[in-house]
Amino acid sequence: MLAVLRDLERVLFDQATIFRRLDEIAARISRDYRHKELTVIAVLNGSLMFMADLLRRIPLPLKLDCLSVVSYHGKARASGEVIFKQISMPDVQGRHVLILDDILDSGNTLTALRKKLVAAGPRSINVCVLLSKNRPRAYAVEAGYVGFEIKVEFVVGYGLDYDERYRNLPCIGVLRKDLMK
Ligand code: IMP
Ligand code: MG
Repeated sequence: MLAVLRDLERVLFDQATIFRRLDEIAARISRDYRHKELTVIAVLNGSLMFMADLLRRIPLPLKLDCLSVVSYHGKARASGEVIFKQISMPDVQGRHVLILDDILDSGNTLTALRKKLVAAGPRSINVCVLLSKNRPRAYAVEAGYVGFEIKVEFVVGYGLDYDERYRNLPCIGVLRKDLMK
């Protein structure tokens, strides 16, 4: 087993549980988009594992674009600021867009991204997240596909990081508090 597993307070979802849920979500997406050509926009780095495992379960013709954003949380920065790292946005005009992200927390990131993509004139736009934190959101985001609802706790693994670490864990778990600054 990975030595970093010791850094978890507890495991929330093991790999088999994640995969079973991905089967269900992929089946729904495949049904919903069976007559539409899908353009998937994945938000890296957090959604990397999720994207790879989910998309391999969707037997539809689709286009894939990845982008990465930096969002600042906490009081030290102006809230709501989301910086897009790549120079040009994917072309989504007239397309059925599905945004993939790892986790919906405040909703800040997905609200900014959705707004930016809507301005480019997609035919439709929906959001799929692996995890959603059960909390009131400063920014309401409607996600048509949610893997798991979780409590407000800091989780890592399966793409999710703490300071860029733990993304390679095969499961999702709560990080030990003593390891967080
Ligand atoms: P939001 O903009 O507040 O919804 O936050 C979204 C981003 O914050 C996610 O894409 C993650 O990168 C990060 N994030 C939020 N909660 C967690 C967590 O519990 N673990 C790891 N990353 C998180
Ligand atoms: Mg992150």
